[in-house]
Amino acid sequence: MCGIIGVVSKNNQITETVISSLKRLEYRGYDSSGIAIEENGNILVVKDKGSVDHVLGGIDTTKTSGHIGIGHTRWATHGIPSKINAHPHTDCTGRIAVAHNGIIENFLELRKHLEEKGHRLVSQTDTEVIPHLIEELNNEGMTVEHAFKEALRRCKGSYGVVMIAQDSLHEMICARRESPIVIGVGKNETYCASDITAFLPYTNKVIFLRDGEMAILRPDNVLIERIEDSTVVPQRISTITWNPQMAQKSGFPHFMLKEIHEQPYALRNTLRISNNLIEPFARRINDAGKVILTAAGTSNHASIIGKYMFTHIAQLYCQSVISSEFADIGLNTISDKDVVVAVSQSGETADTLDATKRAKEKGAGILSITNVVGSSITRVSDNVICTQAGPEIGVAATKTFIVQVATLSLLSLELAKLRGTLDYSEIQSMKRSLLDTPRQIESVVKTQEATAIRIAEKYYSKPSFLFLGRGISTATAMEGALKLKEISYTHAEGYPAGESKHGPISLVEPGFPVVFIAPPDETYERLIGNIMEMKAREASIISVCGQADEKIEKLSDDFIEIPGNIPAEFSPIPYVVPLQLFAYYTAVKRGYDPDKPRNLAKSVTVK
Ligand code: M6R
Repeated sequence: MCGIIGVVSKNNQITETVISSLKRLEYRGYDSSGIAIEENGNILVVKDKGSVDHVLGGIDTTKTSGHIGIGHTRWATHGIPSKINAHPHTDCTGRIAVAHNGIIENFLELRKHLEEKGHRLVSQTDTEVIPHLIEELNNEGMTVEHAFKEALRRCKGSYGVVMIAQDSLHEMICARRESPIVIGVGKNETYCASDITAFLPYTNKVIFLRDGEMAILRPDNVLIERIEDSTVVPQRISTITWNPQMAQKSGFPHFMLKEIHEQPYALRNTLRISNNLIEPFARRINDAGKVILTAAGTSNHASIIGKYMFTHIAQLYCQSVISSEFADIGLNTISDKDVVVAVSQSGETADTLDATKRAKEKGAGILSITNVVGSSITRVSDNVICTQAGPEIGVAATKTFIVQVATLSLLSLELAKLRGTLDYSEIQSMKRSLLDTPRQIESVVKTQEATAIRIAEKYYSKPSFLFLGRGISTATAMEGALKLKEISYTHAEGYPAGESKHGPISLVEPGFPVVFIAPPDETYERLIGNIMEMKAREASIISVCGQADEKIEKLSDDFIEIPGNIPAEFSPIPYVVPLQLFAYYTAVKRGYDPDKPRNLAKSVTVK
């Protein structure tokens, strides 16, 4: 939630860099935007409710002269989206400016203390206490640097935070606890941000700040310290292999569409993950007492698919628990014999991180699958597999879902080998099918995109949809429904088809759209029964089925064909693609921006 950027440079025109970096962070929140930049030795703040373009688009960046600045794009938690609540926030004098991502839990107590000391706080945010606390400690005689550190020691909760101060405009200071901060080391320019993509066009040399660390950034050097005891921490510069084009639209109207089209590439790269990573990960799962997969949102749907694959392919019983429910469902039974497999595209989702931390406290092994090298989840994990989707900017997860499922597929086959549930030739045959999925997706997009557009144009004004599947396709149906509802604001429910008669069927009246995920697997005949039930109630049937499946096609008002054969266990990989396209084109047809759905953020770092 919220995106932060900071730039300090020997160059004196950083405003353009701050604003364009901020635009690359908008997927983290976009209800308000703001910057604080140096201007003739002062700090100038421009902020308001609205997107970066709306709030900052009018600034003539060629006429600004500062060499240090910070920026923020907001996803509101405390206080409505408004000018006064937009970041950066300043102290009473306007000499200290702070941008923050996270939640200061004891802000009411701190605010009361500061107001008693005569500070004037003007917003409803938790963040505003930080600059005032720094001001107060600075007034008591501490240097700004020391005051920043001491202020954070007094804050409870989470933060990725960056500050600039008028008395030391040669440096900016940032810190993190439970909210990400990455430092970029450029030539005569240093950056800090919530995410690498913010500064990727300028440098691929990064330092992942760890919880409890702060950094003093100057154009040509970085000093990292522990907040708690001021111990200096040695630098750990990594080189990122993502390139700046990966974080741009490359001619597509939206990131989401670009990312759907990139899926074959993302999948190929992920299927190349070395067995040196897959094998020990699978071995930890195999040796465990209980295995619990945990994740949120789309990653939760990948986890459900993982559970199905582990059970079917490797005959390994496991559970999948939504991470925000983990403390209430999964935790009590966990011991040091068990493992928790956390699945998170960003590696920063607070609910999923919390689940791993709690499980770790109980001694469980923590294994994670994430798309972001160096993300918080990697640091609490014993084994990590990094999927190879490249940066995903669209708020709706698409290519990262596909690569999560691919990774879980590789793990299932490795588990089958370890447990002897499939013989060598069966494993090789399934592996060949898996390796063919990138080509299959290419073919789905090439041959079925036009059909997805036509179906979206036909049904876009329908207020409600049911998505139904059986077995592994239930999770595909849930993912199709989530995609549709989150970007097109159309009510949609993903349900096990067999369960629909126990309630959801009462929604159905003539013309009510029901989407069936109908691969030719062992559930096929039973699913046809469900289609008949819906047809009997004059629902409009939209099916995603195998190629030339005349039976399903006859029963459907509209259908999308998936070319080629795929083992049932891997069917979510190609079958989800038309659902992503359908959601995308429905959102566009309804006039919404699919990259920035209202009330959502790419990375949800609050619990
Ligand atoms: O980064 P994560 O995979 O942990 O994120 C989990 C969810 O927040 C995420 O999948 C969310 O549901 C997306 N909006 C789905 O498109």
